[in-house]
Amino acid sequence: MKRFLMGVLATLVVGAGAGALFVYSGLFDVSADTPHSPLVYRVIETARENSIERSIRNSLAPANLSDTERVRRGAGNYAAMCVECHLAPGKANSEIRKGLYPEPPDLSQPAKTQADVAARQFWIIKHGIKASGMPAWSKGGIEDDAIWDMVAFIQKMPTLTADQYAALVESSDGHSHGGVAEDNHHGEAAVQEAPHGHDAPAQTTGKQAAPAVVKKKAHDPNDGHAH
Ligand code: HEC
Repeated sequence: MKRFLMGVLATLVVGAGAGALFVYSGLFDVSADTPHSPLVYRVIETARENSIERSIRNSLAPANLSDTERVRRGAGNYAAMCVECHLAPGKANSEIRKGLYPEPPDLSQPAKTQADVAARQFWIIKHGIKASGMPAWSKGGIEDDAIWDMVAFIQKMPTLTADQYAALVESSDGHSHGGVAEDNHHGEAAVQEAPHGHDAPAQTTGKQAAPAVVKKKAHDPNDGHAH
Protein backbone atom coordinates (compact mmCIF):
# COMPACT_ATOMS: atom_id res chain seq x y z
CA MET A 1 0.00 0.00 0.00
CA LYS A 2 2.79 2.33 1.02
CA ARG A 3 4.65 1.58 -2.20
CA PHE A 4 1.48 2.21 -4.19
CA LEU A 5 0.99 5.61 -2.54
CA MET A 6 4.63 6.52 -3.14
CA GLY A 7 4.12 5.59 -6.80
CA VAL A 8 1.06 7.84 -7.08
CA LEU A 9 2.92 10.69 -5.39
CA ALA A 10 5.94 10.30 -7.68
CA THR A 11 3.68 10.31 -10.75
CA LEU A 12 1.98 13.50 -9.55
CA VAL A 13 5.31 15.21 -8.89
CA VAL A 14 6.70 14.24 -12.28
CA GLY A 15 3.43 15.31 -13.98
CA ALA A 16 3.42 18.70 -12.23
CA GLY A 17 7.10 19.15 -13.12
CA ALA A 18 6.48 18.36 -16.79
CA GLY A 19 3.52 20.77 -16.79
CA ALA A 20 5.59 23.55 -15.24
CA LEU A 21 8.40 22.91 -17.70
CA PHE A 22 5.97 23.20 -20.61
CA VAL A 23 4.47 26.45 -19.28
CA TYR A 24 7.86 28.06 -18.62
CA SER A 25 9.51 26.80 -21.81
CA GLY A 26 7.37 29.01 -24.06
CA LEU A 27 6.41 25.99 -26.15
CA PHE A 28 2.68 26.63 -25.68
CA ASP A 29 1.58 28.49 -28.82
CA VAL A 30 -0.63 31.48 -27.91
CA SER A 31 -1.03 32.79 -31.49
CA ALA A 32 -4.63 33.24 -32.61
CA ASP A 33 -3.87 31.98 -36.12
CA THR A 34 -2.84 28.49 -34.93
CA PRO A 35 -5.89 26.48 -33.81
CA HIS A 36 -5.88 24.38 -30.65
CA SER A 37 -5.48 20.64 -31.13
CA PRO A 38 -8.88 18.90 -31.36
CA LEU A 39 -8.42 17.50 -27.85
CA VAL A 40 -7.63 20.89 -26.26
CA TYR A 41 -10.54 22.44 -28.18
CA ARG A 42 -12.91 19.76 -26.87
CA VAL A 43 -11.71 20.28 -23.30
CA ILE A 44 -12.25 24.06 -23.49
CA GLU A 45 -15.61 23.67 -25.21
CA THR A 46 -16.84 21.18 -22.63
CA ALA A 47 -15.69 23.39 -19.75
CA ARG A 48 -17.44 26.40 -21.33
CA GLU A 49 -20.75 24.70 -22.06
CA ASN A 50 -20.95 22.98 -18.67
CA SER A 51 -20.07 26.18 -16.87
CA ILE A 52 -22.77 28.12 -18.72
CA GLU A 53 -25.33 25.38 -18.24
CA ARG A 54 -24.66 25.32 -14.53
CA SER A 55 -24.91 29.11 -14.25
CA ILE A 56 -28.22 29.42 -16.08
CA ARG A 57 -29.98 26.60 -14.23
CA ASN A 58 -32.39 28.92 -12.48
CA SER A 59 -32.68 31.72 -15.01
CA LEU A 60 -35.89 32.49 -16.79
CA ALA A 61 -36.29 34.61 -19.89
CA PRO A 62 -38.87 37.44 -19.61
CA ALA A 63 -42.29 36.36 -20.84
CA ASN A 64 -42.43 39.25 -23.32
CA LEU A 65 -39.13 38.36 -25.03
CA SER A 66 -40.60 38.34 -28.53
CA ASP A 67 -42.30 41.76 -28.17
CA THR A 68 -41.64 43.88 -31.24
CA GLU A 69 -40.64 46.77 -28.97
CA ARG A 70 -37.85 44.69 -27.41
CA VAL A 71 -36.69 43.55 -30.84
CA ARG A 72 -36.68 47.15 -32.11
CA ARG A 73 -34.64 48.42 -29.17
CA GLY A 74 -32.23 45.50 -29.32
CA ALA A 75 -31.50 46.21 -32.99
CA GLY A 76 -29.85 49.58 -32.29
CA ASN A 77 -27.52 48.19 -29.65
CA TYR A 78 -26.69 45.17 -31.76
CA ALA A 79 -25.80 47.36 -34.73
CA ALA A 80 -23.65 49.61 -32.52
CA MET A 81 -21.77 46.95 -30.55
CA CYS A 82 -21.90 43.49 -32.09
CA VAL A 83 -22.00 43.51 -35.89
CA GLU A 84 -18.26 43.58 -36.55
CA CYS A 85 -17.84 40.29 -34.69
CA HIS A 86 -21.21 38.58 -35.17
CA LEU A 87 -22.33 39.86 -38.61
CA ALA A 88 -25.91 40.62 -39.71
CA PRO A 89 -28.14 40.02 -42.75
CA GLY A 90 -26.26 41.59 -45.65
CA LYS A 91 -22.89 41.54 -43.87
CA ALA A 92 -20.97 38.47 -44.96
CA ASN A 93 -17.78 38.80 -42.89
CA SER A 94 -15.38 41.26 -41.29
CA GLU A 95 -11.65 41.58 -40.74
CA ILE A 96 -11.94 41.34 -36.97
CA ARG A 97 -14.10 38.20 -37.16
CA LYS A 98 -11.70 36.47 -39.53
CA GLY A 99 -8.83 37.12 -37.14
CA LEU A 100 -10.49 36.06 -33.89
CA TYR A 101 -10.00 32.61 -32.38
CA PRO A 102 -12.43 31.14 -31.62
CA GLU A 103 -14.31 32.72 -34.50
CA PRO A 104 -17.41 34.56 -33.22
CA PRO A 105 -20.54 32.66 -34.32
CA ASP A 106 -22.52 34.27 -37.15
CA LEU A 107 -25.63 35.33 -35.26
CA SER A 108 -27.54 36.11 -38.45
CA GLN A 109 -27.88 32.32 -38.71
CA PRO A 110 -30.21 30.32 -36.44
CA ALA A 111 -28.61 29.20 -33.14
CA LYS A 112 -27.23 25.66 -33.18
CA THR A 113 -28.24 24.82 -29.62
CA GLN A 114 -31.93 25.04 -28.89
CA ALA A 115 -32.08 24.20 -25.19
CA ASP A 116 -32.31 27.34 -23.03
CA VAL A 117 -31.05 29.34 -25.95
CA ALA A 118 -32.35 32.70 -24.66
CA ALA A 119 -30.99 32.24 -21.13
CA ARG A 120 -27.68 31.03 -22.56
CA GLN A 121 -27.37 34.04 -24.87
CA PHE A 122 -28.30 36.42 -22.04
CA TRP A 123 -25.66 34.93 -19.76
CA ILE A 124 -22.94 35.07 -22.42
CA ILE A 125 -23.72 38.68 -23.34
CA LYS A 126 -23.81 39.75 -19.70
CA HIS A 127 -20.71 37.90 -18.45
CA GLY A 128 -18.63 37.39 -21.59
CA ILE A 129 -16.30 34.43 -22.16
CA LYS A 130 -12.72 34.46 -20.91
CA ALA A 131 -9.87 34.63 -23.44
CA SER A 132 -12.21 34.54 -26.42
CA GLY A 133 -12.86 38.16 -27.41
CA MET A 134 -16.48 38.02 -26.21
CA PRO A 135 -16.80 40.94 -23.77
CA ALA A 136 -18.81 41.01 -20.52
CA TRP A 137 -21.16 43.80 -21.56
CA SER A 138 -22.47 44.30 -18.01
CA LYS A 139 -19.02 45.68 -17.11
CA GLY A 140 -19.51 48.32 -19.77
CA GLY A 141 -22.73 49.42 -18.03
CA ILE A 142 -25.30 47.68 -20.22
CA GLU A 143 -28.28 46.88 -18.01
CA ASP A 144 -29.98 43.49 -17.85
CA ASP A 145 -33.08 44.68 -19.62
CA ALA A 146 -31.08 46.07 -22.54
CA ILE A 147 -29.33 42.70 -22.75
CA TRP A 148 -32.69 40.91 -22.94
CA ASP A 149 -33.66 43.33 -25.73
CA MET A 150 -30.58 42.21 -27.65
CA VAL A 151 -31.45 38.56 -27.02
CA ALA A 152 -34.94 39.30 -28.39
CA PHE A 153 -33.34 40.86 -31.44
CA ILE A 154 -30.85 38.03 -31.97
CA GLN A 155 -33.68 35.51 -31.93
CA LYS A 156 -35.41 37.46 -34.67
CA MET A 157 -32.36 38.30 -36.79
CA PRO A 158 -32.06 34.99 -38.73
CA THR A 159 -35.52 35.66 -40.22
CA LEU A 160 -34.65 39.15 -41.49
CA THR A 161 -33.53 40.20 -44.96
CA ALA A 162 -30.77 42.79 -45.29
CA ASP A 163 -33.38 45.49 -45.98
CA GLN A 164 -35.54 44.50 -43.03
CA TYR A 165 -32.46 44.50 -40.81
CA ALA A 166 -31.46 47.98 -41.97
CA ALA A 167 -35.01 49.29 -41.45
CA LEU A 168 -35.19 47.85 -37.93
CA VAL A 169 -31.85 49.40 -36.95
CA GLU A 170 -33.01 52.70 -38.44
CA SER A 171 -36.25 52.57 -36.40
CA SER A 172 -34.47 51.77 -33.13
CA ASP A 173 -33.22 54.30 -30.60
CA GLY A 174 -29.61 53.67 -31.52
CA HIS A 175 -27.22 52.77 -28.74
CA SER A 176 -28.56 52.89 -25.19
CA HIS A 177 -27.59 51.24 -21.91
CA GLY A 178 -31.08 50.61 -20.57
CA GLY A 179 -33.82 48.34 -21.83
CA VAL A 180 -37.45 48.68 -22.77
CA ALA A 181 -38.66 48.15 -19.21
CA GLU A 182 -36.67 51.02 -17.79
CA ASP A 183 -38.06 54.54 -17.77
CA ASN A 184 -36.42 55.39 -21.06
CA HIS A 185 -33.79 57.55 -19.37
CA HIS A 186 -31.36 57.33 -22.26
CA GLY A 187 -33.99 56.50 -24.81
CA GLU A 188 -35.82 59.81 -24.72
CA ALA A 189 -32.66 61.80 -25.30
CA ALA A 190 -31.49 59.35 -27.93
CA VAL A 191 -34.70 59.81 -29.92
CA GLN A 192 -34.33 63.58 -29.95
CA GLU A 193 -30.62 63.58 -30.58
CA ALA A 194 -30.91 60.85 -33.20
CA PRO A 195 -29.04 57.59 -32.76
CA HIS A 196 -25.33 57.80 -32.24
CA GLY A 197 -22.73 55.20 -32.93
CA HIS A 198 -19.67 54.62 -30.77
CA ASP A 199 -17.31 56.36 -33.12
CA ALA A 200 -19.38 59.48 -33.61
CA PRO A 201 -17.94 62.34 -31.53
CA ALA A 202 -19.81 62.66 -28.22
CA GLN A 203 -22.70 65.13 -28.18
CA THR A 204 -23.09 65.23 -31.92
CA THR A 205 -25.80 63.41 -33.77
CA GLY A 206 -24.65 60.15 -35.22
CA LYS A 207 -26.45 60.28 -38.53
CA GLN A 208 -24.99 63.64 -39.46
CA ALA A 209 -21.63 62.93 -37.87
CA ALA A 210 -21.02 59.64 -39.66
CA PRO A 211 -20.74 61.00 -43.23
CA ALA A 212 -18.57 63.87 -41.91
CA VAL A 213 -16.14 61.35 -40.43
CA VAL A 214 -16.02 59.43 -43.69
CA LYS A 215 -15.43 62.63 -45.63
CA LYS A 216 -12.60 63.67 -43.37
CA LYS A 217 -11.00 60.26 -43.83
CA ALA A 218 -11.21 60.54 -47.61
CA HIS A 219 -9.15 63.74 -47.47
CA ASP A 220 -6.71 62.33 -45.01
CA PRO A 221 -3.23 62.12 -46.59
CA ASN A 222 -2.83 58.54 -45.40
CA ASP A 223 -6.11 57.41 -46.98
CA GLY A 224 -7.67 56.13 -43.73
CA HIS A 225 -8.05 52.37 -43.70
CA ALA A 226 -6.59 50.50 -46.67
CA HIS A 227 -5.16 47.02 -47.21
C1 HEC B 1 -14.64 41.46 -30.36
C2 HEC B 1 -15.58 40.53 -30.88
C3 HEC B 1 -16.93 40.39 -30.23
C4 HEC B 1 -17.85 41.36 -30.01
C5 HEC B 1 -17.72 42.86 -30.28
C6 HEC B 1 -19.02 40.70 -29.51
N1 HEC B 1 -18.80 39.36 -29.42
FE1 HEC B 1 -20.16 37.92 -28.89
N2 HEC B 1 -18.75 36.48 -29.07
C7 HEC B 1 -17.46 36.68 -29.51
C8 HEC B 1 -16.78 35.41 -29.55
C9 HEC B 1 -15.33 35.18 -29.95
C10 HEC B 1 -17.70 34.43 -29.13
C11 HEC B 1 -17.45 32.93 -28.99
C12 HEC B 1 -16.79 32.66 -27.68
C13 HEC B 1 -16.50 31.20 -27.46
O1 HEC B 1 -17.03 30.35 -28.17
O2 HEC B 1 -15.74 30.88 -26.54
C14 HEC B 1 -18.94 35.14 -28.84
C15 HEC B 1 -20.10 34.52 -28.43
C16 HEC B 1 -21.32 35.15 -28.36
C17 HEC B 1 -22.59 34.48 -28.14
C18 HEC B 1 -22.81 32.98 -28.01
C19 HEC B 1 -23.16 32.45 -29.37
C20 HEC B 1 -23.37 30.95 -29.42
O3 HEC B 1 -24.39 30.53 -29.99
O4 HEC B 1 -22.53 30.20 -28.91
C21 HEC B 1 -23.56 35.44 -28.14
C22 HEC B 1 -25.05 35.25 -27.97
C23 HEC B 1 -22.90 36.72 -28.34
N3 HEC B 1 -21.54 36.50 -28.46
C24 HEC B 1 -23.55 37.93 -28.41
C25 HEC B 1 -22.91 39.16 -28.58
C26 HEC B 1 -23.59 40.43 -28.55
C27 HEC B 1 -25.09 40.62 -28.36
C28 HEC B 1 -22.64 41.38 -28.74
C29 HEC B 1 -22.83 42.88 -28.74
C30 HEC B 1 -23.42 43.46 -27.56
C31 HEC B 1 -21.38 40.71 -28.92
N4 HEC B 1 -21.58 39.36 -28.79
C32 HEC B 1 -20.18 41.35 -29.20
C33 HEC B 1 -16.90 37.88 -29.88
C34 HEC B 1 -17.53 39.12 -29.84
